[in-house]
Amino acid sequence: LRDLSRLANEADTPGLFKAKLTAESTTARFAEGLDTPILGYNGTSPGPLIEAVEGDRVEITFANRIADEASTIHWHGMPVPADQDGNPMDPVAAGTDRTYSFDLPEGSAGSYWYHPHPHGKTAEQVYRGLAGAFVVKPKADPIPAAYGDTVLVFTDLRLAADGTLPDSTMTDLMNGRVGDHVLVNGQKNPVLTVPFGTKRRFRFYNATNARFLRLSFDGAPMTIIGTDGGLLEAPVAADDILLSPAERLELIVSFEKPGTATLSTLDYDRGWMGAGRPADAGLALFTVNVSETPAEPAPPLPDRLRPIAQFGAPAVSRRFVFTETMTMNATGMEMGFLINGAAFDIKRVDVVAKAGQVELWEIVNKTDMDHPFHVHGTQFQVVEHERGGEISKPAYRAWKDTVNVARGETVRLLLRQDRPGPRMYHCHILEHEQLGMMGIVDVQ
Ligand code: C2O
Ligand code: CU
Ligand code: CU
Repeated sequence: LRDLSRLANEADTPGLFKAKLTAESTTARFAEGLDTPILGYNGTSPGPLIEAVEGDRVEITFANRIADEASTIHWHGMPVPADQDGNPMDPVAAGTDRTYSFDLPEGSAGSYWYHPHPHGKTAEQVYRGLAGAFVVKPKADPIPAAYGDTVLVFTDLRLAADGTLPDSTMTDLMNGRVGDHVLVNGQKNPVLTVPFGTKRRFRFYNATNARFLRLSFDGAPMTIIGTDGGLLEAPVAADDILLSPAERLELIVSFEKPGTATLSTLDYDRGWMGAGRPADAGLALFTVNVSETPAEPAPPLPDRLRPIAQFGAPAVSRRFVFTETMTMNATGMEMGFLINGAAFDIKRVDVVAKAGQVELWEIVNKTDMDHPFHVHGTQFQVVEHERGGEISKPAYRAWKDTVNVARGETVRLLLRQDRPGPRMYHCHILEHEQLGMMGIVDVQ
């Protein structure tokens, strides 16, 4: 397993994280003798791991060196001001720089990420390689340091015979682009060796455009300790986990006996239009060799991790209905993915919300496919899922910025936006976002 490179902090003042991220064309070697042209941040894909501490001030200068394309850096899930969040309304032109600055509030520790968000180009820039993890560490961490902290960024790749990344097809646009190989930190089925009896902390990132990852670690029990926006209140054991595009989980995996433990995919039917549904079960993503040497004794995982405050009663409730349309035009059939009957319009405000006010959002999926719903600038709490008249509550209270809304399902969540300005909400199948499944909430 190759560790992600780290973005070096260039500041010499404590409490400041200062660095530069350059988006540029580069190449990667995925197949024997073939160089694949990709995009990278500071020459790598996934981009360098950013690690800051809650309370820090962050100043990152973005240099857009992508030929002829505007871009932005969006800080997915992070509590940053709207004008620093890399919205499509704030493009950084090719060949220019801009500095993003924001403060990481106390209590904001979590597993965030960063990726481009330019109008109409997000899906393509992400599958060409632009995405990275941004971990905000707490000042005092309840998880024993002996467990380590390993970030695993999942991306997927489709390679043409000549080693290039092919353009998306009609099927890719309808279903979202699913590649042929799932990569972990840019590698195919990397191997890690640990002593037996080791407990390891992992952060799983689904940074694919559209692949749903239902995963299990055969031979090693998993415990969920955190979600998108940080730790849970208490650890929860899990046989398998589902990570829809853009979701993250923090896990403790116990490697109890010598041998091999393989992280592999299980079947998950996320709904598929047309032919060519990729086989998604039985792919080995990551292999851990558990050696005969016993691990040094490590402290146990605490029973309580941190409190998570509950929201008060909502002042407003809103409904967002997902539908799909198909229209014929001169160039053939065109799919539309709509929210409340409308496709995204960069000049239109869809919802006006009041800063600091608790809202209940109801996301209704009337399509034949799952859609991972994401809101910028804040973390929400899922209240319940409803399907066929049946209501189920989540297994634990958690901070989330992305939640899968399965086909035919309604998800209700509570959220509060504390900072004014326009925020995006959208399906995180990035091809759907591009085809219109996005709106703007203006927080005042
Ligand atoms: Cu991952 Cu609009 O973002
Ligand atoms: Cu986001
Ligand atoms: Cu979608």
